[in-house]
Amino acid sequence: MAGRLAVIGAGLMGSGIAQVAAQAGWQVVLRDLDETATTRGLDGIRRSLAKFAEKGKLSDDEVEATLGRITTTTELEAAGDADIVVEAVFEKLEIKHEVFRALDKICKADAVLATNTSAIPVTQIATATERPEAVVGTHFFSPVPMMKLCELVRGYKTSDATLERAKSFAEEIGKTVVVVNRDIAGFVTTRLICALAMEAVKLVEAGVISAEDLDIACRLGFGHAMGPLATVDLTGVDVLLNATRNIYTDTADEKFFPPELLQRMATAGDLGRKTGQGFYSY
Ligand SMILES: NC(=O)c1ccc[n+]([C@@H]2O[C@H](COP(=O)([O-])OP(=O)(O)OC[C@H]3O[C@@H](n4cnc5c(N)ncnc54)[C@H](O)[C@@H]3O)[C@@H](O)[C@H]2O)c1
Repeated sequence: MAGRLAVIGAGLMGSGIAQVAAQAGWQVVLRDLDETATTRGLDGIRRSLAKFAEKGKLSDDEVEATLGRITTTTELEAAGDADIVVEAVFEKLEIKHEVFRALDKICKADAVLATNTSAIPVTQIATATERPEAVVGTHFFSPVPMMKLCELVRGYKTSDATLERAKSFAEEIGKTVVVVNRDIAGFVTTRLICALAMEAVKLVEAGVISAEDLDIACRLGFGHAMGPLATVDLTGVDVLLNATRNIYTDTADEKFFPPELLQRMATAGDLGRKTGQGFYSY
């Protein structure tokens, strides 16, 4: 049953999560640090809804009703009456801790406090609160309105009730849920993409195959929609480098040790699509 959602961070992911929840009938408050950021987030939602309308997937009335269910704010206190809070701020532990410390004081006693982190252990984020049993990972994928998966992550102290409510929420807003039962570094999806992408980079670095051919092999041989190196470019060389470093730090598993090529690309600023150059030119 639709309830009240607060989304903290109106960037790419936060605005996407706010949109799909509002489409499913949730009352959403979307919070960011200033009005420039909340306006940018809301503009992104409007553009996305307009595309659905153009394709005939939403009526004009549904677009209006969805927008009518979203309010924006710069005040964290607006999360006070939310049933579920999803945090989607920058991927930095200190910033997430600051947000969860504040949410712990503001939110209802029975609120679910979810994080959209891609790789920081949920257990670590939960330590900023006095209610780690209420903290859970809801890892959505980009672009949220299109991607069907939600990777649900159980922190060390997450309760069954919290996990169940987060699962119902994700399903209600149209996602298919997979449950990660232990809070390991990189969860499951980030581990898989890092393992594949690091091996791909090593093969290219060793001159075994070109980047183009490696991606073709994965697309045509395995039926992947996108090759791993094109995925690195899309996600960001820096983002994947950071993710794999974190997994390596936690596990000392050498398959996650970032190849030199990836490190040099990051240092040189070839970060993928966002800078116009990565394994491919854009
Ligand atoms: N981009 C992706 O493909 C992707 C996929 C899955 C998960 N994630 C994760 O989702 C989270 C958000 O990523 P994103 O790509 O949307 O980032 P983004 O940079 O697009 O947006 C982050 C937003 O958070 C805001 N913010 C920072 N501190 C804040 C605070 N204290 N209160 C409110 N807002 C604050 C920023 O102003 C910014 O608008 C990260 O943890 C990231 O790892 C990202």
